[in-house]
Parts: sequence; structure tokens; C-alpha cells
Amino acid sequence: MDTKVVLIDEQHIDDELIREAGRIIRAGGLVAFPTETVYGLGGDALNPASSKKIYEAKGRPSDNPLIVHIADMESLPAIVENVPETAKKLAAAFWPGPLTMIMKKAAAVPGETTGGLDTVAVRMPSHSVALAFIEAAGGYVAAPSANRSGRPSPTVADYVVEDLGGRIEMILDGGDVELGLESTIVDLTVEPPVILRPGFVTEEDLVGVLGQVEQDATLFADDSGQAPKAPGMKYRHYAPKGELTIVRGSAAAVTDYINTGLSEGREKNKKTGVIATDETIGSYRADVPRSVGKRTDVNAVAKGLYRILREFDDEGVELIYSESFDGGGVSQAVMNRLLKAAGHRVIDVSCTRR
Ligand code: TXA
Ligand code: MG
Repeated sequence: MDTKVVLIDEQHIDDELIREAGRIIRAGGLVAFPTETVYGLGGDALNPASSKKIYEAKGRPSDNPLIVHIADMESLPAIVENVPETAKKLAAAFWPGPLTMIMKKAAAVPGETTGGLDTVAVRMPSHSVALAFIEAAGGYVAAPSANRSGRPSPTVADYVVEDLGGRIEMILDGGDVELGLESTIVDLTVEPPVILRPGFVTEEDLVGVLGQVEQDATLFADDSGQAPKAPGMKYRHYAPKGELTIVRGSAAAVTDYINTGLSEGREKNKKTGVIATDETIGSYRADVPRSVGKRTDVNAVAKGLYRILREFDDEGVELIYSESFDGGGVSQAVMNRLLKAAGHRVIDVSCTRR
């Protein structure tokens, strides 16, 4: 299949291109599109055949449910059994934006879209291209991140081309995404609501609106012994090909530990990489040193992380060390993704000696 890649400017949206993309979806085809979080791979959420195609194009297990994207609140009642009060409050505060809510699904949503679950994940993105596209597509676009299964979510259209070129009808290239990590997912079918995936809408943000929310026990732990509630979280996501280790502790001890590890790697003729910050990057001796920006700017860290993980793969890096980015707020989203990428390999140098 030929994939049509078109540039689309968020400030001056070409209506004809959006209509063409909408027609593809309504005819059962697939279109990748930009959102404020990451690029999505869109299909008609109410058409079971489209959802099957999404799984095929991504190489994704079909028990891993898709997020249904809508463009306005009026679209919500048709796809959920009822709209909970909690959803109304959260929508008023954070939609359109990087928040996905799990609710009981209505019959209109096929099991193919929800991985057989009786719940549905719904999000209203804030990207103006995404909103125009969803509307043109009929109002309900099922969209996982537009990467092949197991690769980091794409933050630029080139990565979508790399992963899905030849497998889908069209790619809307809207340039760099704004945030770079996937939406926060909150399950509203339980009381109190539970965060299944941390993101830019933080735990504090949700508590501010709902009073009480809990975190799924599997978000940061490897061995909590519990099955994750967002089925997608059980798959080993975001994993670079090289072996990634996160090093946590005081700045000096971390630099020391990582540099020792890097030299050992080089002695074994391994290509090495490091994920650090503007403040520290100069002190590392790695083949592929990468700074995510200033340590104080957690948004920059979030935005740069997936690009860096892909660059390590492209450069054939075999051994990777990363500084740790612990903290509240958006840091929780960063650490959740980084820990998964590292397969939870973390060294704490405040209590470990080499
Ligand atoms: O920011 C985002 O959310 C991006 C953009 C494209 O909107 N989308 C995205 O989709 O990250 P995806 O498919 O890569 O991640 C969706 C996650 C998966 O972990 C999936 O298991 C979970 O949401 N999920 C979807 N429906 C669910 C449901 N009914 N119950 C629990 N988890 C669900
Ligand atoms: Mg994904």
C-alpha cells in the first residue's frame, strides 16, 4: 500500500486534506495524525473491521484495548453506558487535553475496539488538527500511539513513516508534538478512581478535582505481584534494543557510577549511550551522549525521552545508562516510562557500593 504523507499546519488547517483523511476513516481505512501527546494511528472506533486493521498495522495483541478519541462533549453519551459525575468534572477541568477516562461502554462500541472489555477509554485531544480530523471522520476515532508494537510512541511524523509507512493509507504530518508522553489514564469505573497511567494531568491535578484518587500498584513497581489494570501496561513497552540501567542517588555518585559502567562497556567493545541533563552531560564519556535538557525542566525531559530512545536504536547503542528523574507531578510520567524502558533495572548508588 502507498502511504500518502501530507504536511498540515496547525495554524492554517487545509480543510480539503482533513476531508480526505475523514473519508479514508469512514471508508474503513487508517490515518495517522498528530495529537498534543504523541502521534495516533486512527481508525473508525465504531467499525470492528477498522479496529482489526489497527492491530494488524501495529503488530499489537488484540486484547490490548484502544482509546476512542472524540471532538466534543456531545459525542460522549453515545459510547458510554452513562456519563458519571466524575467524568463531567474532569472533562470540565482537563478536556480537551491529555487525559483519558475509562467508563462502562455502550453497545455502540464494538468489542474489537475495547479488546473484549465492557469498558471504554475515551479522550478528547486538544490538538486542532486532531479535533478537525476526528470531526471529519465521523466523531469517533480509535487511536493507539502510531508506533509498531514495542517501539517508543512517535513524537514526530518521520517516526510514524518509519514504523507504519506502507501499512496505512495516510499520515498527517503536523510537526513536533507538544508534550511527548501519552495521556494520563484514569479508571472511573471504580471508587475511588484509579490512575492506570501517569501523564501530564498529574495525580495532584486529579485529586484537586475529585478529592481522592489512587495509583495502580503496578505503575512504578516491577514485582507488585498484581496484574496491571490497563492491559497495555503489561506488555514490555518502550524498550530500546540496548540494555538500559537507571542510576539514582546524589549527582556526584551517579556520575561516578555511570562513568565506571561506561568504561567497562567500552572495554568489552560495546557501543555506549547515556541519558543525562544539560548540567551533567559534559562529565560523561559515552559514544552517544544525550541530554534531555535542563534538570529543572521536567517538560523538556518528557518531550525528549522517546526521541532519544529511538536514536540509541538507530545508532546501534548496546549499553545505556540514564540519570533518574524522581519527583512528583510530571516526573511520575517520565519515571513510569523510563522504568518500563529499563525493564525496571535501577541502581541506587546512595546505598550500593561497587
Ligand atoms: O496520548 C495518548 O493517549 C495516545 C494518543 C494517540 O491519544 N494514545 C495512546 O494509546 O497512548 P495506546 O493504545 O498506545 O495506549 C492506550 C492504553 C493501553 O495501555 C490500553 O491498555 C489502555 O490504554 N486502555 C484502553 N482501553 C482501556 C480500558 N477499557 N480499560 C483499561 N485500559 C484501557
Ligand atoms: Mg502505545
